[in-house]
Amino acid sequence: MPVTLIAPFRIGQGWDSHRTEVGRALILGGVQIPSDFGLAGHSDADVLFHAVTDAVLGALSLGDIGMHFPDTAPEWKGAGSLQFLQHAIKLASDRGYQLVNVDSTIVLERPKLKDFRPAIRQGLAHATGLAAEQVSVKFKTAEKVGPVGEGRSCEAQAVVLLAAA
Ligand code: C5P
Ligand code: MG
Repeated sequence: MPVTLIAPFRIGQGWDSHRTEVGRALILGGVQIPSDFGLAGHSDADVLFHAVTDAVLGALSLGDIGMHFPDTAPEWKGAGSLQFLQHAIKLASDRGYQLVNVDSTIVLERPKLKDFRPAIRQGLAHATGLAAEQVSVKFKTAEKVGPVGEGRSCEAQAVVLLAAA
């Protein structure tokens, strides 16, 4: 018979991808980035918040973002990515876990994001309740290769650590 122990730490990983689309806003970590295109999707298509949300759900072994927030559910109709992330963090705290740190990577060919690093870190810190020092955001191009490299999509990856409170 397996014995359930409250693990002192749990790690989680998340990934997301959204198509680029002219006429949409480019919102990353809750920050609107000046750009001549944005990301397609329900809500604000904040690919970074979605990846971090999946990482938190993954750390808890609670499935994925689409399972918790189906776009058919009236409860979540019109909800923003910030609400998804904060709900995942509440699921963690309900189970006795708090977020320790987040590391993430956004893969986008253009525009350059490095000038927005402080704002995106702050956006993610605000969303998660972490200090900015516990939040890392890295940027990469895809070297012009594949859908991201051709400017057709943007991806984000995230790893989170949860600790038993
Ligand atoms: O992908 P690559 O290694 O060529 O990226 C070089 C640097 O450019 C990265 O270290 C990153 O800081 C920055 N970068 C950026 N915005 C992007 C992609 C990369 O600021 N969209
Ligand atoms: Mg998404």
